[in-house]
Amino acid sequence: MRIFETKKELQDYLETARINKQKIALIPTMGALHEGHISLLNYAKPLSDVTVCSIFVNPTQFNDPKDLEKYPRPIEHDIALLKAAHCDVLFLPTVEEMYPDPNEKWHIDLNGLDAIWEGEMRPGHFQGVTQVVYKLFALVQPDIACFGQKDFQQVMVIEHMIKVKQLPITIALCPIIRDENGLALSSRNMRLSSNGKIQALALSKTLLYIKNNFGKIPLLQLNKQATELLNSSEGITLEYLAICETTTLKEIKTIEQDKQYVALVTARVEDVRLIDNMILN
Ligand code: PAF
Repeated sequence: MRIFETKKELQDYLETARINKQKIALIPTMGALHEGHISLLNYAKPLSDVTVCSIFVNPTQFNDPKDLEKYPRPIEHDIALLKAAHCDVLFLPTVEEMYPDPNEKWHIDLNGLDAIWEGEMRPGHFQGVTQVVYKLFALVQPDIACFGQKDFQQVMVIEHMIKVKQLPITIALCPIIRDENGLALSSRNMRLSSNGKIQALALSKTLLYIKNNFGKIPLLQLNKQATELLNSSEGITLEYLAICETTTLKEIKTIEQDKQYVALVTARVEDVRLIDNMILN
């Protein structure tokens, strides 16, 4: 695996790949890699000739400086995982490399997608995400970019940016990887005790309950039952639970035949903020 720390090195390498008409896949990450990230790489492999994984803990998407400081950075472990998974290129830039101008201002109209759910809880978060993803897209110019369904709202935001900026990039929405009990894999799970991991299962169980009863129980009642299920689960502090249309992420009152729906949930367990979701139809 080639490791590049500068934009120049990366661009020189990818230029040759492009001249040779090779397909490039990008897997943007913030490191602390686990099986979920490796599944994105495995998804990209058969669809591309060169896989580029980036590891960059992006400061502009953290609204709490303590969260940024606490973010795990097990780089040696990450490099070993990527090598074992046969990643071709790792891009590992510094903050100065990605943001040479510390006063850089950024705003993209995300049609309100950045003001609801995760966006409401973490103001500025999705502007930060689009900022860094746009920079990575411009640098790598991938044919395909892979993102995990676990951050469903993030993928919708990036899809929206691609549409607005008319970027010739295909987004792959890769399935959530869960442990054997159903807990969605996340870098944050390493901050949970083994009891916390058991308590956190209430999230995926509730989402499954919604999926199994979607279209069978009136929506309002289904939402109420699912909320009660979570609120009565030990160790869970619910932030939000919603049944939404997938592209606008607006909460729905009725089900329409030709639309797709998703249930979104965010809760704290042992003060660790966990998010999960399930596509319902
Ligand atoms: O999902 C993440 O890890 C980050 O939000 C991303 C897409 C790498 C941008 O920093």
